[in-house]
Amino acid sequence: MVYDSPWNQAKFTDSLNNPKTLASLLVVDEQVLGYFVATHSPDSADLLNICIHPQYQHQGLGTQLFDYLTKQLQTLNLDTLFIEVRASNETAFLFYQKLGFKLIGLRKKYYSNGEDAKILRLQIM
Ligand SMILES: CC(C)(COP(=O)(O)OP(=O)(O)OC[C@H]1O[C@@H](n2cnc3c(N)ncnc32)[C@H](O)[C@@H]1OP(=O)(O)O)[C@@H](O)C(=O)NCCC(=O)NCCS
Repeated sequence: MVYDSPWNQAKFTDSLNNPKTLASLLVVDEQVLGYFVATHSPDSADLLNICIHPQYQHQGLGTQLFDYLTKQLQTLNLDTLFIEVRASNETAFLFYQKLGFKLIGLRKKYYSNGEDAKILRLQIM
């Protein structure tokens, strides 16, 4: 299990049926090693989910997948990307910091378990 509270099938289906969704799978030798799901409005985008198979984490694949997302955003002329991260998810926070995201705020008790969300923003060059 990668997440404590993973998305269920309905959540993926809803997102993938939304025309504002951008989503991609990272597939190597017919094995799914990762994915992202993002949504966009006219002037910004939100990264809703990004995940790399546990056995392949910290090998640069998340960065490659993210680079692919930023190229898609550039083709849509979108230069601002937001994400909410669980306060306890230090690995994801380090990942986003390395990608250039800045911490811009905190949503207190945002998650159903009472955990805070860190709000991060990236200006895409
Ligand atoms: C967050 C996640 C997508 C990162 O993908 P990844 O392929 O492991 O990341 P990369 O290998 O591209 O790492 C890029 C940078 O992120 C940071 N990082 C990644 N994994 C790390 C780890 N286990 N410990 C510390 N830093 C880490 C490092 O700064 C790393 O740079 P480095 O290789 O120079 O140390 C992956 O850890 C994951 O799927 N986590 C579970 C799901 C999740 O929490 N998603 C985010 C929800 S908001």
